[in-house]
Amino acid sequence: MKAVTVIPGVPESLRLRDVPKPSPRRGQVLLKPLMVGVCGTDKEIIEGKYGKAPEGSDYLILGHEALAEVAELGDGVDNVSVGDLVVPTVRRPVNCDLPVDYCPVGKYVEHGIWGLHGHAAEYSVTDAAYLVKVPKEIVDIAVLTEPLSVVEKGVELGVTAYQSRLGRRPETALVLGAGPVGLLATMVLRLMGLSVTAVATRPPDSLKAKLAREIGATYVDAAHEKLAGTYDLVVEATGATSVALEGLARLGPGGVEVLLGVYPPGGRLEDAGSLLTDAVLNNKLVVGSVNAGLRHFDAALRHLKEAKDKFGDWPKRLITKTADLDNYQEAYSWTHEDIKTVLVLQHI
Ligand code: BGC
Repeated sequence: MKAVTVIPGVPESLRLRDVPKPSPRRGQVLLKPLMVGVCGTDKEIIEGKYGKAPEGSDYLILGHEALAEVAELGDGVDNVSVGDLVVPTVRRPVNCDLPVDYCPVGKYVEHGIWGLHGHAAEYSVTDAAYLVKVPKEIVDIAVLTEPLSVVEKGVELGVTAYQSRLGRRPETALVLGAGPVGLLATMVLRLMGLSVTAVATRPPDSLKAKLAREIGATYVDAAHEKLAGTYDLVVEATGATSVALEGLARLGPGGVEVLLGVYPPGGRLEDAGSLLTDAVLNNKLVVGSVNAGLRHFDAALRHLKEAKDKFGDWPKRLITKTADLDNYQEAYSWTHEDIKTVLVLQHI
């Protein structure tokens, strides 16, 4: 079968290969992936900066944001049937008894990223216990479930932390970044009724700015406007250190900043003392969040359905480019105007 592969650690080793078709072991399913989303983590893997092949393999099949059809059941599987549409979660624990999305580095593997093959292939296998079933009505946007699950976990952390300390729900949010994660965070926070300011460095007439405004957020072009005011919640989705620090400064009393980016090493802070004292005197909380558990995938599916009902084709417009397997490189290259690029393995 055909699969999109890299040799982890080797830059520009992205190749379409012919590899053996996998077969499901006990408790596993064989999947026929329909769509696979591409994200910044894939980019890092392709650049040779991240990623690990499974034991005994010199290549890694990419793809951790998948929508798939169940093609075959391994022994003992009774929670899904052949033909079901599903989204698999990414991470599997290795000798770790914490919730899987809290397992520390070294105590997990991840499909398409770290030690397990992914779904950018004609077939893939995964554990049946880590699947969520997709309602037919959202099959066109369900490939967004995984990135949205990461947002759901971050927003849940932010909202519960704020509420548990202040005794009321947050009302205002600042979302830093208008890539897929930033726009999905804007979507979830708007569905929850918060007043949202979305910030990016694209011009006000860009698609990203328009999408943010269309669902009722205020858009700020940070290349030309300075941020002002304070917010109950800040969701950081740029991965830029200076932006994350600005986010901390923009929190109001009791506010919570959720960091969803990966920040480059180094960086210097001019006035760390004032920023930290202000965090103490205002009871600010900064929380990092990565990966997501099954309940966040369920929440993501619910919010995708709600967003489709309320905002029409808005979630679908986040997918700015699709490419077939024969043209796979197209899905793995994108411009600043692209939001989510998707590899289409089977047309539905
Ligand atoms: C995925 C997470 C994963 C993380 C680190 C992200 O792109 O969405 O599920 O844990 O990369 O590997």
